[in-house]
Amino acid sequence: MKVKSYAKINISLDVINKREDGYHNLRMIMHSVELSDDIEININGSKSISVSTNLHYLPDNKKNHAYRAAELFFEHTGIENPGIHIDIFKRIPVSAGLAGGSSDAAAVLRALNVMFSASLSLPELAKIGLLVGADVPYCIHGGTMLAEGVGEILTPLKNMPKAPIVLSKPPIGLSTPKVFSEISAEKIKLHPDTDGIIKSLDAGDLNGICKRMFNVLEPAAQSVLSKSGNGNAVEELKEVFRNHNACGTLMSGSGPTVFGIFEDIKDAKCAYNAAKRITRDTFLTTT
Ligand code: C5P
Repeated sequence: MKVKSYAKINISLDVINKREDGYHNLRMIMHSVELSDDIEININGSKSISVSTNLHYLPDNKKNHAYRAAELFFEHTGIENPGIHIDIFKRIPVSAGLAGGSSDAAAVLRALNVMFSASLSLPELAKIGLLVGADVPYCIHGGTMLAEGVGEILTPLKNMPKAPIVLSKPPIGLSTPKVFSEISAEKIKLHPDTDGIIKSLDAGDLNGICKRMFNVLEPAAQSVLSKSGNGNAVEELKEVFRNHNACGTLMSGSGPTVFGIFEDIKDAKCAYNAAKRITRDTFLTTT
């Protein structure tokens, strides 16, 4: 079976507080974009799970979210694994704030549910997905969503208006735990106007959404990046997008990918060309 797994962006990301379990309660608006990985799952009779990808440095064992998702699927459904191979063609940049690995895990859970006629509901799949990672429940559903708790409490929102978007990942990855370890929730002074974004979504007001986009993890990501001499990487890309009339620009998730949303496809194409000169992990897609 062949499926696509879509990248997500954060239209906003707010940290509410730190929990006893070390995770943070968040309030964020997530949206799936057209940029995707391709996943093919085949039954091969090996009675085990194997994973291959087009990127040699990615794990092909339990450390791969897709592998872990498959393992948990068989454990939770009690279905005997006849042996499956998962082949992933990655386009979504890795360690980028785009939930690439989580999205692959979600796509595997949805595909196995169909392949093995397990009839699990999306909330049931999301529950299994949460054991793989905090972004997986959102990725099971996709679309435009308010995500709260660690990311598992999901409320569907009016879909983000269609617009060209450029995604650009600086040539360095960021570790999510490292970025979270740099923040003190109670010291965060500026918070996104999440409710204002929800109202703008309801009104289909792209400008209202773009001017309110805000991610409280940006300073923490910049601080981690500056330790490796890349402190300017996020701001540099934002500047490029602003110079090409972006309606809004933001870092996604824990970074370092920056995206710009445009009203005019010509501006988006020029911004794409300019950002591509800074980093080759640059994509022109749609919201
Ligand atoms: O669940 P996932 O593996 O995606 O999370 C990676 C790391 O990000 C966690 O170990 C934690 O440090 C941090 N995190 C957090 N609060 C969240 C989500 C992630 O602190 N809501």
